[in-house]
Amino acid sequence: MRANAPVRFLVFSASMRKDSLNTRLAKLAVQVIQKNGGSVDYATMPEFDCPSFNQDLETNNEHPKGAEEFRKRILSNDAFIISSPEYNGSMPGLLKNAIDWVSRFRPQPFNEHHALLMSASPSMGGGNRALWSLRMPFEHLGARVFPDMFSLATAHKAFTPDGNIADATLAKRFEDNLVAFMSLVEAAKHYPCIKKAWVEFLGEKPDPVTERVE
Ligand SMILES: Cc1cc2nc3c(=O)[nH]c(=O)nc-3n(C[C@H](O)[C@H](O)[C@H](O)COP(=O)(O)O)c2cc1C
Repeated sequence: MRANAPVRFLVFSASMRKDSLNTRLAKLAVQVIQKNGGSVDYATMPEFDCPSFNQDLETNNEHPKGAEEFRKRILSNDAFIISSPEYNGSMPGLLKNAIDWVSRFRPQPFNEHHALLMSASPSMGGGNRALWSLRMPFEHLGARVFPDMFSLATAHKAFTPDGNIADATLAKRFEDNLVAFMSLVEAAKHYPCIKKAWVEFLGEKPDPVTERVE
């Protein structure tokens, strides 16, 4: 990573819980990014929390504070990293709710922003299904979701007291995954070569009711 042009990563956990395993994983990601020369903007989910989405609340182009903050932080960083819990085989409702609110800004903030998805769960699956469900709205919105995701299984037993991943192989895989993502974001920032149009349905007839094309 170039010392004179650091790449900025927004990192947050999508859990509101005080003793959250995902928050622990997000904080470990912060350390790994900084160790590898990246710069971090660490956020917490309460900063992005929004009231339940209702189109009737969108009067006068007003958005909840949480959505304004989420948008601002997406736009002021080169990429974002989320560590998300899995609830009932999917993403937490509060995260989808915040994504829905942010998707209403124009220009649509997630478009062309790189994303890395991580999860932690006490289960054997490590919350991985939440990440597959998150890919759908993010890819729909034009985010460039990194192919490799990281899910920490049996996460309640996986950390050392000082917050590292106890298993050395797993700890290396976590770091390698993050470093690979950092390299891609660094390349995309300094050597842009891919441009992607955000079009919801190809061939859709222009109509203000369905218009989501930028
Ligand atoms: C409503 C609810 C549904 C859950 N569903 C799942 C699930 O489908 N898969 C899973 O691995 N864990 C599930 N869990 C357990 C969470 O993974 C566990 O509570 C985890 O610690 C939450 O993340 P956090 O520690 O970051 O808050 C569920 C927990 C709650 C509260």
